[in-house]
Amino acid sequence: MSSLEMINTAKAMVANDKGLLAMDESNPTCNKRFAALEIPQTEELRCAYREMIVTTTGLNESISGAILYDETVRQHLKNGTSFVKVLTDAGIIPGIKVDAGAKDMAGHAGEKITEGLDGLRDRLKEYAQMGLRFAKWRAVIAVGNGIPTRACVEANAQALARYAALCQEAGLVPIVEPEMLMNGDHTIERCFEVTEEVLHVVFEQLYAQGVMFEGMILKPNMVVPGLACPIQVSVDEVADATVKCLLRVVPAAVPGIAFLSGGQSAELASARLNAMNIRFKSQLPWALAFSFARAIQQPALEIWHGKEANVSEAQQALYHRAKCNQAARRGEYIAATMDKPQENIL
Ligand code: G3H
Repeated sequence: MSSLEMINTAKAMVANDKGLLAMDESNPTCNKRFAALEIPQTEELRCAYREMIVTTTGLNESISGAILYDETVRQHLKNGTSFVKVLTDAGIIPGIKVDAGAKDMAGHAGEKITEGLDGLRDRLKEYAQMGLRFAKWRAVIAVGNGIPTRACVEANAQALARYAALCQEAGLVPIVEPEMLMNGDHTIERCFEVTEEVLHVVFEQLYAQGVMFEGMILKPNMVVPGLACPIQVSVDEVADATVKCLLRVVPAAVPGIAFLSGGQSAELASARLNAMNIRFKSQLPWALAFSFARAIQQPALEIWHGKEANVSEAQQALYHRAKCNQAARRGEYIAATMDKPQENIL
């Protein structure tokens, strides 16, 4: 892909109020989600689950692209059609998670560094030949007493930037995902401070590595208090803090920001994205979109439960959540009518 094609792909990933479906759980993560529901953790069932997702009728109305995993890009429907072809034929851009996971960082207790740069150039070349048009790399930043350290922030930012440069060299649009975890009792102010610092360093490194901002997508966390923080805040407060933080650090050349959900409930993730778009959409240089995994998939996974008989109902739930998030991009998501009222939506 040329620079122009990458720019057009990045724009298409956030066009028409659509967003990305992250279905790129690694085998250990997918197995963990299955185990929690007592679904057997086999390759066959992982394939059946992904088949349920990619054959959902109408998913392309609200989903612009899907992030796959190495196992999944090599899997097929029962009729032999590859998942990549099914998505492409539906007008959903296929992409791939290429990091090798977050590992303990030497000398930095409680912190992680994402691995996967070795051999990445060759893997990207193969993925591009398979028809994949974008990639994803996730850095994980824990927030706590004395962490993140500058060493962790800089190492992860540099890895993200080197990955992004390799992606663009191969003609793939990089999704750059630095995730501040919600675990812990930190306040929303602390999350703001850490998110601002991390994004600042990430964009410094992206610039240093010569990454073309017009041909990338940022996938950040929303600015939220830690799950165990005694002071939780309203949907509008999250929207205000998140947009204020992003405006400080994300260059206007970046076409889109597609949030991760990070373990928020599906309804809360939609409500917060909705509030950001209601309050700020007309004033922002970039699109505010979604790239959720759990906040789109979880209700469908719970219904599917590993059983063929539940496929149709699970697909309806998946379609519904994708539509809710498209509505949130338009500032038209109304929790009370589109979803069951949630006690946890402040
Ligand atoms: O890397 C993480 C996923 O792409 C997003 O997952 O929405 O469940 O946080 P999540």
